[in-house]
Amino acid sequence: MSEEKIYLYPIWVRIWHWLNAISFLALVLSGISMQYASSGFSIIPFELSVTMHNITGIAVTFLTLIFIIVNRFTDNGFYYNMTTKTLATRLFNQSKYYLYGKFKGEKPPYPISMKRKFNPLQRLAYVVVMYIFMPLLIISGIGLFFPEIIPAKVFAMNGILLTAVLHVIMGFLCSLFLVVHLYLCTMGSSVGALFKGMITGYHQ
Ligand code: HEM
Repeated sequence: MSEEKIYLYPIWVRIWHWLNAISFLALVLSGISMQYASSGFSIIPFELSVTMHNITGIAVTFLTLIFIIVNRFTDNGFYYNMTTKTLATRLFNQSKYYLYGKFKGEKPPYPISMKRKFNPLQRLAYVVVMYIFMPLLIISGIGLFFPEIIPAKVFAMNGILLTAVLHVIMGFLCSLFLVVHLYLCTMGSSVGALFKGMITGYHQ
């Protein structure tokens, strides 16, 4: 990782990111609480978890929309352009570094610069989560909020049930992303360097 400071996270990205992180954590917490309510194990009282899930769901919906729209019209969107050319090789190199090279003191294969804000693994994860998983999570969530808009049968199966399954799978995948995201964010030039970067705006 380069030692020089680079201004990589504009103020809108930082405000968006931390609002999104807080809303998402509350969304997951209330979602898990609702899922286990019938088994008598609830972190938050059921009524409160429903209200919390609805409010944070609306917040995350707007935040995701804002992210997609602002990214479309600002320079930040450039970092989300993906090419599949040599993708497998790049992902392999980066994974090898995370699993092995980093601990042997090797240099990162794709150093961060003004032109390359993310390594190939980060970029793929952010694109998949922000442009596929989150929209599917939100669309299925809207469906469950307004069940009358869901067709009764989809491929001869109960439409509401299918929507609920999709919602739970996407919620699980986004939560899994968060766990891996937090771990990989400790792999900067120091354990706290990337977290500091998302606060100050400067990557080091
Ligand atoms: C407590 C929760 C979280 C923490 C501590 C955290 C931390 C960070 C840090 C340190 C970075 C900068 C490192 C980098 O550029 O890769 C980052 C970037 C990012 N995070 Fe998170 N994150 C959290 C939750 C989330 C969630 C819930 C999402 C999405 C659902 C998310 C999506 C992103 C994205 C898209 C970026 C890149 C933003 C950009 O610069 O364009 N994060 N996060």
